[in-house]
Amino acid sequence: MASIASGTVLITGPTGGLGRAATSAMARRPDAERPDLILVGRPGRGLAEVAEEARDAGATVHDVGCDLARLADVRQAAEQVRQVLASGATRPLRAVIANAGVSVTDTHRVSADGYELTFAVNYLAHAQLIGDLLEVLKTPARIVLLGSNTYYENIFRRILRVAPARWRDPIELAQPTPPDVSASVELAGTAYSDSKLALLYYAHELQRRAQPGVGVVVFEPGFMPGTGLGREHGEALQRVGRALERIPGVSSPTRSGPMLAAVALDDRWAHLRDGAFVVKDAERQVMPFANDAAREARLWTATDELLRSVS
Ligand SMILES: NC(=O)c1ccc[n+]([C@@H]2O[C@H](COP(=O)([O-])OP(=O)(O)OC[C@H]3O[C@@H](n4cnc5c(N)ncnc54)[C@H](OP(=O)(O)O)[C@@H]3O)[C@@H](O)[C@H]2O)c1
Repeated sequence: MASIASGTVLITGPTGGLGRAATSAMARRPDAERPDLILVGRPGRGLAEVAEEARDAGATVHDVGCDLARLADVRQAAEQVRQVLASGATRPLRAVIANAGVSVTDTHRVSADGYELTFAVNYLAHAQLIGDLLEVLKTPARIVLLGSNTYYENIFRRILRVAPARWRDPIELAQPTPPDVSASVELAGTAYSDSKLALLYYAHELQRRAQPGVGVVVFEPGFMPGTGLGREHGEALQRVGRALERIPGVSSPTRSGPMLAAVALDDRWAHLRDGAFVVKDAERQVMPFANDAAREARLWTATDELLRSVS
């Protein structure tokens, strides 16, 4: 059976934090275990730099500029990827890592298409991109989505006041907070956690609809307090986060990036399907409510509606 590393891996959000570390880990593999790379990120210096670093490490790299907060951009990026694949300039597409993500503090903020920004970038943009590329994936193939344990409450997160998901109909989840309701840390946390629960539900439904030979996996990198995900909480807090990441045992892009690369590439994980949830380097059960066939089917049709209503 062909290995994933014998093909091309597309990763979103390669410019920062976990995505950058995973890109570097893939590029630095020995020749026989190194995939070609398609890097999908906001156009600019960051994307050019990470592409250059990966090329310097020996990888064949295509960078595709794309603002995931604009569905027209996402569709264009998918078209560009299809063209690169058709031209033979890169090996067959065998994996997609939907890594890019945001945690927006003001849930009044919307994407270019009018959807709540966290839901739009973390979930909708990836549903569009994967939907547009599903048929060009060459099996055996893997789709890795970025999950987060924040979707459910535990004692640790309750103390830290990290809000869990509060699931509603997806059409509602896609709407920004109404102007007469104030933004709050709790609403922002709920929006983030909802987007991650949406990815779990999406993963389960995607597996039912994808062609045989595609495995859908959800990866949780552990709490990495110093990444750009916390950028809206201020530079001081991020500095504290980066200091915490130096403590052994605390997750960081340097530690979790290679684990993400391994989940996407390694034969060790070839059996994973059905949205299997991998926390760093171990498969874990999700909460019972994160498997819900009715919600998963509804999310699929609502997503179709949300994507189709944007021309
Ligand atoms: N940090 C944690 O504790 C943690 C825990 C669990 C899961 N996760 C998940 O891990 C993933 C990576 O997060 P991270 O911590 O590495 O965060 P990060 O450092 O902020 O990296 C996020 C990446 O997403 C990209 N991105 C954001 N908005 C975009 C847009 N509109 N268009 C294109 N790209 C966009 C960023 O690009 P720019 O450089 O252009 O901004 C960056 O490359 C996310 O899905 C996150 O939810 C993180």
